[in-house]
Amino acid sequence: MAAGIIVAPATTDEVAAVMRLCSQYAVPVVAQGGRTGLVGGSISKPGEIVLSLERMNRIERLDAVEHTAVVQAGVVLENLQKAAAEHRLEPGIDLAARGSATIGGMISTNAGGVMAFRNGVMRHRVLGLEAVLPDGSVYCDMTRVVKNAAGYDLKHLFIGAEGTLGVVTCAVLKLDPMPCATATALFGLPSVKAALDLIRLALDCETGELRAAEALWPSFIDLTAAARGWSEPDFELGRPIYLLLGLGGAREEALRVEFEKLFGDILDRHPGTTGILASSKRQEEALWGLREDTEVIYRAHPAAPSYDVSVPLSEIDGYVERILAGLAGIDPELKPYVFGHLADGNLHIVLNRGGPLPAALAAAVEAVLYADLVALGGSFSAEHGVGSKRIHSLLATADETKLKLMRRVKDTLDGHSLMNPGKVLPLASHPINDSSRNGVEAHA
Ligand code: LAC
Ligand code: ZN
Repeated sequence: MAAGIIVAPATTDEVAAVMRLCSQYAVPVVAQGGRTGLVGGSISKPGEIVLSLERMNRIERLDAVEHTAVVQAGVVLENLQKAAAEHRLEPGIDLAARGSATIGGMISTNAGGVMAFRNGVMRHRVLGLEAVLPDGSVYCDMTRVVKNAAGYDLKHLFIGAEGTLGVVTCAVLKLDPMPCATATALFGLPSVKAALDLIRLALDCETGELRAAEALWPSFIDLTAAARGWSEPDFELGRPIYLLLGLGGAREEALRVEFEKLFGDILDRHPGTTGILASSKRQEEALWGLREDTEVIYRAHPAAPSYDVSVPLSEIDGYVERILAGLAGIDPELKPYVFGHLADGNLHIVLNRGGPLPAALAAAVEAVLYADLVALGGSFSAEHGVGSKRIHSLLATADETKLKLMRRVKDTLDGHSLMNPGKVLPLASHPINDSSRNGVEAHA
């Protein structure tokens, strides 16, 4: 059961008016963007209201000299990408859910995506921010410059807060120049080490810049290739790992030559490497489809449990081996689809099971996937946030002082717990319980 009321304000003043009323009548508020989240961050309950930002979808300013965009929270990423492209600019952040994810949601979850290894995550793209607080007051810092050392940079409190401290209504984003040409290639490699070597070579390449380095482990590419009817006579599947690389630069022809050189270099170091270079926009899209069409998994396994870990690059090889063995130890039929943003160490792991899992199995799986992650220098939540599904993992792994500070920040900004209650942190009066695990949520 969800909230019975949805309000869709069109302006910051209207959001503030809603918050004042909610505060007066103690009605909890769940802010919603494009609802592409995977951790139950925008699920509502009876007695709450949903505050949709969908009508606040205006790009208020796009400045080609400053390389900035001023956007309302409900702007869909793809619409900003298109508007920026007219000035040969780009938001510098990209993700598979671009067609529905909104800037406000991406800020609230500190989204990462494909280009994070070079451009940082959402936090690094936000220059200024406006947010409505629970009492209806408006925090306004619409700075349009990179440098601003004027005291505590409080906008960062709202970035990644998943709507638990206030409602993000507007933001200033940094834009980057967009390359004139791109080229895309898919490589089949003998090992994770070979894939990491290839990323290193591509980062150092003479012509063009690496824009994407997405890894696909065999079970995942087998599934997406079969579902999409993808096959290439000269490029057989069956390698231990695949890497989708994107280069950007001035001329496509030069990028293609660079890819051929990269192929030669990696083949010298790792015999057995295979590669296919997209020869048209259509083929480029077909290669990206193999990586981005994650819906294929959920069609095969409805509500399959998904995990989103960060692992330092030097630990990835061992980590993947350990989780494959660990999951097989729970049940030989339990297999993960593994894929993700290899250049920054962010792996997505989705199980070949419909969800939600029974509690004991869920706990056993998490024990395997999250074992030693903190000690290794990684994280149980790379880019999908905490929402309602990952609170127990946060409590289990976070530094005690961090948790206390988080609680104090929450109490200071939202003392009556009106903002997305029970997300990120447990309700103050309710210790974490098992019902917060594996709540089913529609995904993008
Ligand atoms: C992706 C989402 C799951 O990278 O983060 O496809
Ligand atoms: Zn991702």
